[in-house]
Amino acid sequence: MPPDSETKNAMPKRLYIETVGCQMNMLDSELVVASLRQQGYELTSDFNLADTILFNTCSVREHAEEKVYSQLGRLRRLKESHPEKVIAVMGCMAQKDQKIVFDRAPYVDLVVGPGQLHRIPDLISEIQNGGGRKMEVSMGRRDGSVEQIKRSHESFDPLRDPEMRPSPYQAYVRIQIGCDKFCTYCIVPMVRGPEQGRPPQDIIREAQALADQGCLEIVLLGQTVNSYRYQDGETTVRLRDLLYPLHDIDGIKRIKFVTNYPKDMTYELLEAVRDLPKVSPYLHVPAQSGSNRMLERMKRGYTVEDYRDMMQRIAETIPGAAVSSDFIVGFCGETEEDFQQTVQLVEECRFKNSFIFKYSERPGTRGAELYPDDIPLDVKKRRNNELLELQNRICEEENEKFLGERVEVLVEGLSKQAVNQEAETPEELRSNIVQMTGRTHCDRIVVFEGNRRQAGQILPVAIYDTTAHTLFGTVVTDCVGPEVYSLNL
Ligand code: SAH
Ligand code: SF4
Ligand code: F3S
Repeated sequence: MPPDSETKNAMPKRLYIETVGCQMNMLDSELVVASLRQQGYELTSDFNLADTILFNTCSVREHAEEKVYSQLGRLRRLKESHPEKVIAVMGCMAQKDQKIVFDRAPYVDLVVGPGQLHRIPDLISEIQNGGGRKMEVSMGRRDGSVEQIKRSHESFDPLRDPEMRPSPYQAYVRIQIGCDKFCTYCIVPMVRGPEQGRPPQDIIREAQALADQGCLEIVLLGQTVNSYRYQDGETTVRLRDLLYPLHDIDGIKRIKFVTNYPKDMTYELLEAVRDLPKVSPYLHVPAQSGSNRMLERMKRGYTVEDYRDMMQRIAETIPGAAVSSDFIVGFCGETEEDFQQTVQLVEECRFKNSFIFKYSERPGTRGAELYPDDIPLDVKKRRNNELLELQNRICEEENEKFLGERVEVLVEGLSKQAVNQEAETPEELRSNIVQMTGRTHCDRIVVFEGNRRQAGQILPVAIYDTTAHTLFGTVVTDCVGPEVYSLNL
């Protein structure tokens, strides 16, 4: 029996966690939860019952921050009546706001930046033992030498515990932290620190361990994942060099990577995606705008012509590849003409999907210093809706092309509808037929009638209906040949 299991049983502690933000935050939350579970914590979905309440936060838009502050507001009373409960704010907003979190929510006990996550279990214990309020953040981008700043942003990649992953079949694997692109609108380089590639042997070891635990799909994570580089003596290891050894791991069936930076989408990388069947023919490469004037102001480092060339390169190298994008509408000084150039680009590129955001000024960025946030909110909203409508039409048309086609689906579990209805349909439970969901190799969502045991399998599904965001299908069971029939005669 492990030495701590007695204390574990003696003191079950409960943890409530809320996560907002990107996949990097999802992964951070997963790993922090796992590290706290090792300290005897169990998860609860009711913060009233929790001993520790954690918020993993995002600073990319003001709205994401306000949501957290308003959630924190709801805890004021609880903390007054239960001062022993620990309230912690971690992640990007913790790094950006630091002491401001305590000013706005004085009953918060702990503020931890994304570069200090490994400290969380100890810090919580110290607070529980009467150590008082704590803050642990990394250095700012101007607070020391590059090496010092890098060291202060530590990647948190402890060994993965199969019991504690949200899905047994899929896992995020971090390959890079931070960002050095400094797009003028973006807070990420300030809160996540300098770009640092994780050593290739660590990445491969983690992927192998995940495969040994039954994981089928890994998603490699980095803010600009295709800019990944790691200096190994004389040689520089790039993303394409990682893909080959990862592809060799038995058990891993699918490999994806997000998010890509257009300028670093090299021909060599595309060749690897083409040549390695386990690597999904799916690329998320945000364009942000279709106007060169805006791209220049955003300091994206490419022109719309470069982006079009890249799209052409993708189409020629990996025919049928799905590409998705992000756009910001209403960035400083965006005219109707600039916006129409974005509309034109979306019309041409026929993205699998696009995430469209209204520009939100972020204090601490170059954009906030250099340009006034001068596009009225109603104009931002109108442009957002117009682009969204166009993208939805494209999604519908592109999905329709799958009608009658057969796709390979990695089954993830019950569909959203089935999860919501589960309690109400006992006959479904009895018959075992239930709506399941999964994704194609090119990342399209598929819903089909199946059963729970199919979760974690890769199945052929014939598509009979489509909407903008979903393909509906039936699992294909191959025909039984005449020789089998003859056995029965
Ligand atoms: N590293 C990724 C994602 C960054 S954040 C990348 O470089 O693509 C995800 C998306 O949020 C961005 O692609 C951008 O479209 C959007 N975004 C970033 N800062 C924003 C801001 N200040 N206002 C509105 N949207 C923003
Ligand atoms: Fe932000 Fe640009 Fe870095 Fe993406 S590449 S994280 S948008 S600074
Ligand atoms: Fe948000 Fe931080 Fe991700 S600011 S988008 S959670 S890197």
